[in-house]
This record gives sequence, C-alpha cells and structure tokens, in this order.
Amino acid sequence: MQDLAGKHIVLGLTGGIACYKSAELCRLFVKAGATVQVVMTEAAEQFITPVTMQALSGRTVYTSQWDTREPNNMPHINLSREADAIVLAPCSADFIARLVQGRSDDLLSLMCLARPMDRIPLLIAPAMNREMWAHPATQRNLMQVSADGATVLGVGSGWQACGETGDGRMLEPAQLLEDITAFFSPKLLAGHKVLVTAGPTFEALDPIRGITNHSSGKMGFAIARAAREAGAEVTLVAGPVHLPTPRGVTRVDVLSAQDMLEATTRAAEYASIFVATAAVADWRPATQSDQKIKKDGSGKTPVLEFVENADILLTVARSERAQSRKLFCVGFAAESENLVEHAKAKRQRKGIPLLVGNIGPLAFGQDDNALLLVDTHGVRELPRAPKLTLARELMTEIAARLPDWRV
Ligand SMILES: Cc1cc2nc3c(=O)[nH]c(=O)nc-3n(C[C@H](O)[C@H](O)[C@H](O)COP(=O)(O)O)c2cc1C
Repeated sequence: MQDLAGKHIVLGLTGGIACYKSAELCRLFVKAGATVQVVMTEAAEQFITPVTMQALSGRTVYTSQWDTREPNNMPHINLSREADAIVLAPCSADFIARLVQGRSDDLLSLMCLARPMDRIPLLIAPAMNREMWAHPATQRNLMQVSADGATVLGVGSGWQACGETGDGRMLEPAQLLEDITAFFSPKLLAGHKVLVTAGPTFEALDPIRGITNHSSGKMGFAIARAAREAGAEVTLVAGPVHLPTPRGVTRVDVLSAQDMLEATTRAAEYASIFVATAAVADWRPATQSDQKIKKDGSGKTPVLEFVENADILLTVARSERAQSRKLFCVGFAAESENLVEHAKAKRQRKGIPLLVGNIGPLAFGQDDNALLLVDTHGVRELPRAPKLTLARELMTEIAARLPDWRV
C-alpha cells in the first residue's frame, strides 16, 4: 500500500537540528511511493549534507538560485511547477519570518513566493527551541503564514537538543507522513463527527485477573485514522490496547464494558457517525473480589457467576439521536462461522443501516482483514487487504450511503 503513490514532493530543509529527522522523512516519502526533490537553505547545509539527501531521494539537491543546471536558470520556477506540495521540514523561525515578509533572497524562499498558490500547497513543520516557539513574534508569524494559505502541521513537545524541555520539536517523520497523507485525502466526511469504539474490554474478577478477548484494536484504530483523513472530527473510545493514537484523533481510554458504555453514550450525543468496532464482553463477573482470589489447597475451584453487560451498539442505535437519523450507526460482527447469516441477523436485531462482518480468528491481531458489508440492499465483500485500506474503503462506503439515509 503506497499512500503517496504518484505524488511529487519538494522537501525544503532550513537551518535547524531537526534536519537529521528530514533524512528519515525523505526515506518515508519515497517508501510511500512519492518522488522527492530536496531543496536546502545555506543554513540547512550546516546540519546535514546534500549528499545524504541526494542518496535518499535519488535526485541531486538544489541549494542555490544561481544553479546553472536548469536550461532557463530558474530552478525556483521549474521545481515548484512540478510539485504536488512543498513541505518545509524543518522550518526555522527565521524562515517563517521570511515567508511572512515575502522575502526571496535564496532559492527556497524564492520558490515558496513564486509558487502558484492555488495549485501547489505549502506545508510547514516548524522546529525550534521552546522560547523561540513561544515568542509572540513566532506565534504572530505562524498566524500570518496560515492566513496567507500555508498549512502549519504543528510541533511536538519534549526534550530539545538545547537541553530544555517544552514545545517546538519537529513532529516525528512518521507523524508528518500521517499528516501529509491525510492532507492529500479526499475530504468525504468533512463536517462530520465520527465516534469509533475499538479493542477488547477487560472484565475484572479481582485486582489481578480478568476476562478479555483477542481483539487487538487495529481495525478500529485504522477506522479512526481513515475517518480523520476523510476530514471528520474523530473520537476513539479504546479498550486496553497498546496502539499509538492516530494523529488528530481524540482518544478516551476505558477498561470495562460499563466504562465503554458510559464514554460512548456521552460522545454519541455529539456524533453524526458511530462505528462500533470494539469487541465488547457480553458478560462480566457478577461480583468482583477486592482481594486476589486464592487457592486454598483443597483442590476446589471457584464458582464464577456472570451477569450480562449492556449492549453498547443497541443502546446507541436506539437513542433518540440515531432514531431521528442524526447518527448513522455501523456495527461490526466478529463471527467464527456462517458470516453472511449472522451478519444479516445482527443488522436486523440492532436496527442499523450498515453492519460489517468479519471472521474473528482471521481478523484479531492481524494487519490484514476481509470485510462483508450488509445493508438493506444486500451484501458486498471488501476482499482481504491491509486494515487501513479497508478502513478507507469503508469511509467511502459510509459517505456514499449518507445522502439516501438522512431524512
Ligand atoms: C546549533 C544551532 C541550532 C539551531 N537550531 C535551530 C532550530 O532548531 N530552529 C530554528 O528556527 N533555528 C535554529 N537555529 C538558527 C538558524 O539556523 C538560523 O536562524 C538560520 O539563519 C536559519 O536560516 P534558514 O532559515 O535560511 O535556514 C540554530 C542555530 C544553531 C547554530
């Protein structure tokens, strides 16, 4: 799966320590299918050599507006016209100030000023010391470059090369790749608030043990990421999983089915699309011991009693918001056999417009999956593919159903 296949990116490097991360970013762009043309300021060359960037991009690097390689001697025009986007990573405080002023005294600033703004987006990944970042001049300049049409990708927080800790680190290359992939994605769900549940639940028996299942959360996390790429505001209610939160997604961590019910019904009051991917425990132990349940040496095993958990999907699907068609509900069914029949029956039972079936043992923990979409019109198969690919297809399927479904 190549997220940036066919894209041509001009990667601009300015003078900052974070130039070392640009080598990895360039590699990730290439791996994602993009072609990359690197352009560096004079200051950037103090931090990383053009040789490294040439080797990783497979193209000679441009550093000067006086470069005679171009027949018309105008690299600032030629290089920008070919680009699908110009990405400045790292972008120094100084360079942001120069963009604000429309300066053009070196190749990169000249290229940014000379780019056709309606066709070639400018994305900025700032990187600087926390005091430089917090300075009113920098914040003022960032507001101005945004107002002038650039997209500011934000910064990370943490330990900085200067020894201080705070905001201003360049985002990690993988985070930048995720943001830039999202930037290029069609905004099929713009204006929507998508609520996703993911992962297993954990039903405690005592402070040490509990009952859970094999759900890894990967499908739900991929759906949350795909919904954000499609332009939605996304809330992800996650059971106990160790997966990184997709960029730009609000995550609420929960443990038990009851916790998940509370967090989900609260968020569902504002959502317009609900995707119930979580593998919620059907039952929980009737009692939860305050202390560890111990062996007493008699060979007698404990007798466990269970009570049924609330059905989260059904609760949300029966809510006033869903019934008045302000909330489009999508359920997931993980089955071990007879997928079509079970999925059809589950959709009817829950009274929802779309049910997605998958075979649990072939889905749990895997990076790939296959989905079966069941709605009033019938059944459609999304063949085996990476979960992120399927999640993106599912967003397209949901977006296509919204106009007919709304009253
Ligand atoms: C060791 C060192 C590290 C620096 N790191 C940064 C940085 O991370 N961010 C930044 O905005 N400026 C940083 N600077 C200052 C810039 O390199 C300086 O403002 C330079 O003029 C930027 O030029 P450019 O914008 O043309 O690349 C650093 C300077 C030095 C000497």
